Amino acid sequence: MAVRYVSSGTNAGNLEVLDKAEFAFVGRSNVGKSSLVGKLIGAPRLVRTSRTPGRTQMLNLFEAGRDFALVDLPGYGYAKLSKKHRASLKKMIFEFVVQRETLTAIVQIVDVRREKVSPDDLELTQWILENDRPLITVITKVDLVAKNKRLTQITKIEKCLGIPAGSAILCSSKTGEGTKILRSRLMALC
Ligand code: GTP
Ligand code: MG
Repeated sequence: MAVRYVSSGTNAGNLEVLDKAEFAFVGRSNVGKSSLVGKLIGAPRLVRTSRTPGRTQMLNLFEAGRDFALVDLPGYGYAKLSKKHRASLKKMIFEFVVQRETLTAIVQIVDVRREKVSPDDLELTQWILENDRPLITVITKVDLVAKNKRLTQITKIEKCLGIPAGSAILCSSKTGEGTKILRSRLMALC
C-alpha cells in the first residue's frame, strides 16, 4: 500500500486534491489527531505528533493506498497560543470542513477522559451537522480509562455533543484498539 505525505495547505482551495475518498481529522489541540492518522495509515513516523499541544499548524494531506486520503488538521483551543492565533486556527478549521467539497466525511475526535466536551467541540459538531456534512465521532485515548468506567464516559460525551447513543467509535492510537473498526467505517464510505 502506497503511503505518503503529499503536501500541506492553509485552506480548502490551496490544499492539493487527490482523486480518492478524503477524510479530515479534527479536534481539540493535543487530542491525538496526528497519532490516529499515523496509526490508520500504518506509518506513525510519517505524521508529526507531539507532547506539546499545537504541533500541527497546517492542513497536512496524506495518501493511504489506493483508496483514501487523510487530512490532519491543527487543533483548536490550545490555551497557550495568543487569542489572535487561536482564533485564526479555529477559523481555518471551521472554514475547511465546510468549504472542502471533496471531503467524504469529517472525523471529529474527543478525549475519553473529558468530563464535559469543550464549547469548541460542541460548536464544531453543530457546525458540521448544520452544514449537512457527514460526521464520524471518535472517542480516543480509551487506553487511559478503565474498561468499567468507559461506558459512563462515552454516554456523557455523546449526550454533550448531541449525537446518537452508541454512534461514536472508540479508539486508542497507543494500543490500536478500535482502529480497524474506524478503518472499515472509512472504507465503507469510499
Ligand atoms: P495537535 O496537532 O498539537 O493539535 O495535537 P494532536 O491532536 O495531533 O495530538 P498528537 O497526535 O500529537 O498526540 C498528542 C499526545 O497524545 C502525544 O503525546 C501522543 O503520544 C498522545 N496520544 C495520542 N493518542 C493517544 C492514545 O490513544 N492513547 C494515549 N495514551 N496517548 C495518546
Ligand atoms: Mg497534530
